[in-house]
Amino acid sequence: MFDPKLPYNELPKLPPKAEIETNKVLKRWGLARSALSELRLAGQTIPDPGVLITTIPLLEAKDSSEIENIVTTNDALFREAALESENGDPGAKEGVRYRRALYGALELIKKRPLTSRTAIEICRTITGVDLDVRAIPVNLKNKHTGEIIYTPPQGEAVLRELLSNWDAFVHDRSGDLDPLIKMAVLHYQFEAIHPFPDGNGRTGRILNVAYLIQEGLLDLPTLYLSRYILETRADYYRALERVTTHGDWENWLIYMMTAVETTSQWTARKIGAMRELLDETNRHVKAALPKIHSRELVDLLLTQPYCRIANVVEHGIAKRQAASTYLQELVRIGVLRDEKVGREKIFLNKTYLDLLTTDANTFPSYDRTPMQSRGVLE
Ligand SMILES: Nc1ncnc2c1ncn2[C@@H]1O[C@H](COP(=O)(O)OP(=O)(O)O)[C@@H](O)[C@H]1O
Ligand SMILES: [Mg+2]
Repeated sequence: MFDPKLPYNELPKLPPKAEIETNKVLKRWGLARSALSELRLAGQTIPDPGVLITTIPLLEAKDSSEIENIVTTNDALFREAALESENGDPGAKEGVRYRRALYGALELIKKRPLTSRTAIEICRTITGVDLDVRAIPVNLKNKHTGEIIYTPPQGEAVLRELLSNWDAFVHDRSGDLDPLIKMAVLHYQFEAIHPFPDGNGRTGRILNVAYLIQEGLLDLPTLYLSRYILETRADYYRALERVTTHGDWENWLIYMMTAVETTSQWTARKIGAMRELLDETNRHVKAALPKIHSRELVDLLLTQPYCRIANVVEHGIAKRQAASTYLQELVRIGVLRDEKVGREKIFLNKTYLDLLTTDANTFPSYDRTPMQSRGVLE
């Protein structure tokens, strides 16, 4: 029988033999599907998709990396994303690579459907190593006790065969499993195969988002699943393990459906607040700086919480000199703060960064200057 210390070469192929869409699973699946469509609708209220595409994957990158104990701060990560300086902390650099890997995956699925080849590309970008399906043995240990909890299959031929079964299941339309259930099944199987020396967790979580986009359940990479997984990391590991040890698909599928439901709701509310901040910023900039205001400029302020003069130029909003003036004026009216980074200035939309990186969905109105709001408090 299953021994965590021996390579699990008997890992069953897909599809799962048992009836996995039980009543309990279907109940959570219904809630997950409707939360996901709310998320999709929320995304459509933001006219410039760049606002969501650039920011939410960075949040996902941070938490997905943190699940693997690669830690950075949101501030460092957003700053690194803007500067691409290679001077940031290692965790921030990995986070930026993670987002690049996600973008890469979305480009690849436009050209050809998702396969384990896509997974290899994703993992190469995340790790920065030109790796392939592993020849070396690996195992997963309990971080606290050091005890081996799982030994994935071993032998390149075995891994390749399991991966081609994984590919076949991605493309199999004959079973009538819903794509959301299939995503969860594929994620378990991918982690159980554990095809790479490292990066399997992060690659698998990027595959989830790419798969939902491919299947048309999402238009943008806004599902921020790692937020839930990080908060319930022990449950995530246990649920994966129980599929192996007990064939407990029900527990795993309920876990994943709850993850989709919870993070879809969180993100849909966050996008609603982003929309309000977009409106509030447009209103304030239009009133205070009518000659400078444009929708494109305000969209940019919500695309990059850390903005550089070069970003304004790249977006075709103004030439360098004018761009610099625009950003200084935005500092003057309290929308941005400037900071020196070497010889350059970088501009921070602190209100926005706070909104993105906390649970709160409120922000101070621009009409209240710091003096006035202090007056209110006294
Ligand atoms: N019992 C288990 N069975 C299969 N996969 C597991 C199990 N426990 C954890 N995992 C997966 O293994 C991942 C860690 O593998 P690893 O290759 O180190 O990924 P990364 O480099 O992204 O950290 C976890 O994020 C999880 O997805
Ligand atoms: Mg790892």
